[in-house]
Amino acid sequence: MTKTRILLTENIHAIAKTRLLEEGYHVDLLTHAPSESEYIQLLKNYDILGIRSKSEITDVILNENPHLLAIGAFCIGTNQIKLSTANHLGIPVFNAPHSNTRSVAELVIAEMICLSRQLGDRNTFAHQGEWVKSADGSFEVRGKTLGIIGYGHIGSQVSILAESLGLRVLFYDVIKKLPLGNAQARNHLKDLLKESDFVSLHVPETAQTKNMIAATQLAKMKKGSYLINASRGTVVDIEALVASLESKHIAGCALDVFPEEPSSNKEKFKSPLQGLKNVILTPHIGGSTEEAQYSIGLEVAESFRKFMQFGTTAGAVNFPNIDLVQRTHVTRIMNVHRNEPGVLGELNGFISAAQANIQAQYLSTDQKVGYLVVDLEMDQAKASVTHLVNQIQSSKRSIKTRQIF
Ligand code: NAI
Repeated sequence: MTKTRILLTENIHAIAKTRLLEEGYHVDLLTHAPSESEYIQLLKNYDILGIRSKSEITDVILNENPHLLAIGAFCIGTNQIKLSTANHLGIPVFNAPHSNTRSVAELVIAEMICLSRQLGDRNTFAHQGEWVKSADGSFEVRGKTLGIIGYGHIGSQVSILAESLGLRVLFYDVIKKLPLGNAQARNHLKDLLKESDFVSLHVPETAQTKNMIAATQLAKMKKGSYLINASRGTVVDIEALVASLESKHIAGCALDVFPEEPSSNKEKFKSPLQGLKNVILTPHIGGSTEEAQYSIGLEVAESFRKFMQFGTTAGAVNFPNIDLVQRTHVTRIMNVHRNEPGVLGELNGFISAAQANIQAQYLSTDQKVGYLVVDLEMDQAKASVTHLVNQIQSSKRSIKTRQIF
């Protein structure tokens, strides 16, 4: 079998290359984000592409390179890739949504302490040569109540870390979640708001979470409490937050995300929160740590490995998800096809004509494509695996067919 060829661009963390080399793949690493024309040519020689956020993987690049087996976004977002085109071409796109979970959780914990000790302001004063030694309005976090909105990956990590610092933890989620440690669920947002000394947001950006914290919710928060948002900028109504801070209802806030963020480090950042007392503003760095970059490298490399070696597409953002494990004494074939009536019957017809015995079959579909994985016993088969793969691929509805093992 020829070696799988992988191109990694944008200086993806070296651990990804190391990991993929260990699996016996050919890996090339570029430090820059190639242009569209460069990608079109480069990709002719590769089976798999790994990028970060600066590359634009356009329709043209994809249509010129339909042979690609998979794409990995070594970051969280996947907007830089034409996902639907990749889907139609049978190319799953993987990303690393949870590699930076712990980094965000640690930032939130740090911010709780910074807010309750006014560290941001004290630090600024000291740099300016002012000595502001006072205990007024400074508190320990021990014994205080933290209200977590969105008890998913990050929210639940914050919960554990906060309890270990002696905080009491409440959470509110639209889905029923298992409380970790001694955390307690609240069924209504308003109950969490009125009981919490710190409110930390960990929800996704959706129509329901837009301005989830606005004037009404801020008014329900305890006087002197703090708000932390390291989720998405649209979740908080900034004007309402400014009003609440100015009226001294909220005693401070820490925001890592904003409704409008500069698209690069060269652009200026403007916010109505600038200059307000006990307000910590950070440039969307919640997940930006060396450890997170390392984990992202490992997470996407692992998705490539599982896809190539088992056919697993679990976690693919644009593709039917199937989670598979290695099996012995069988031949595994994967097929991506247009999701049309009768296609499964046709493909199984080829298998039965070859007298291959189906040991297991896995199918997952979305609107446009179906992803089929078949484990076959070929002992009594009349045709070779290569012949069968070619037969299956010959269907007008087949997009990609490959022997996995
Ligand atoms: P997750 O998907 O694991 O958890 C989100 C939770 O929010 C889920 O439990 C979900 O049921 C809940 N939820 C959804 N809608 C809700 C609503 N209307 N009310 C209450 N709960 C609701 O996501 P994860 O990984 O914990 O990320 C949370 C947020 O953090 C996301 O917005 C993500 O984009 C953001 N994030 C920010 C980073 C940064 O650098 N600041 C880095 C990584 C993630």
